[in-house]
Amino acid sequence: MEVSMRKEFVLPRRMRGLQPTLIRQFFERALPDSINFGLGEPDLPTPQFLREEAARIARDEQNGYTSHPGLPALRDKIAEQYPHLELPRTGVVVTCGSQEAMTDAFMCCIDQGDEVLLPDPSFPAYDACTRIAQGVPVYYRMPADGEFAFDISNFRAQITERTKAAVVISPSNPTGKIMTADDYRQIAEALDGTGIWLLSDEIYSDLYFGERPVSASEFYDRTIIISGLSKSLSMTGWRLGWAACKDPEMIHAIQVLHGFTTVCTSTITQKASLIAWSDEAEAAKQYARDVYRKRGEFLVDLFEKELGLRATSPEGAFYTMLDVRALGDDLDIAEKCLQNRVVTVPGVAFGQEAKGFLRISFCNTEDRMAEGVQRMKRALFSA
Ligand SMILES: Cc1ncc(COP(=O)(O)O)c(C=O)c1O
Repeated sequence: MEVSMRKEFVLPRRMRGLQPTLIRQFFERALPDSINFGLGEPDLPTPQFLREEAARIARDEQNGYTSHPGLPALRDKIAEQYPHLELPRTGVVVTCGSQEAMTDAFMCCIDQGDEVLLPDPSFPAYDACTRIAQGVPVYYRMPADGEFAFDISNFRAQITERTKAAVVISPSNPTGKIMTADDYRQIAEALDGTGIWLLSDEIYSDLYFGERPVSASEFYDRTIIISGLSKSLSMTGWRLGWAACKDPEMIHAIQVLHGFTTVCTSTITQKASLIAWSDEAEAAKQYARDVYRKRGEFLVDLFEKELGLRATSPEGAFYTMLDVRALGDDLDIAEKCLQNRVVTVPGVAFGQEAKGFLRISFCNTEDRMAEGVQRMKRALFSA
């Protein structure tokens, strides 16, 4: 066949309509010297012992590719984190951050037209990953009027014959809420015998302010754990994440896809991450928990005192949801804040249930946060 005419390029279906998240869009329009309540990026420095270890490895060692699923010793350390699963090393794939693990997991379990249950509100990447995998996002409400806590009746109501997977996240981005063992028991009961995959985003699991959160995988076998070191050790730029799963066929598929997308995550990062479970690292995680807990309490209090507005009390991660329903539309309010040099994220970026809220991240010193609240006061309450 002769190909004579150049055809008009049409974006593949899987990419149509995909846009950068509102989180990024707001952040990128920030005015100079803005206070950032927007991005979920730890401001605490990466612990010095990790930096030094990475520097030593880069200087003294040859760093070629690792095997696709990662350094064996690192995979063993990750597997040990889930003793209830008794995972072999092959049950873990080390990825370029948890974002890659998430995309891989979606691509490996979702087929065209499959429905995926997503929390509303939740991290916008789940919707994007569902669409990239040509699935159909279906939302289950985490009711705003119930402090965004899980509600099994909303979850159950969305399960259909076409449901292929469901996503849970705890501690939650954007709400800072934690799923209880009871929530997971109810989910396991609802999914028992359906073959539905549970994708459990546990990237914030080391940042908790009360009891350590349980993993969904303790309750339901067909769980794919998605996690990493970005948040708990301030290693966002290092790109160390993982997928862990008991099912050999699923984790093998993830490993194969990972090999074809990124080959392996940075060898320097992987080698240095071998000390991410040392006593020093555990102390650094504890320090981060203490700092974020204090900041969360400080900020929620300040919103109440200075603005007369309620914010949810964070149980983990570094987010609170500020209720601005009394003041109007969250997009307009976030825009006003932005023009007054305060970056926030309108709740609608995470789903309809969060309309009328702003997601506030507290990756900032108390002084900067206090200044941010004063700027918000001027932006929202002066005539
Ligand atoms: C809920 C959630 N999951 C996953 C990620 C991806 O993080 P990383 O790829 O750095 O591990 C983020 C980052 O903001 C997040 O908030």
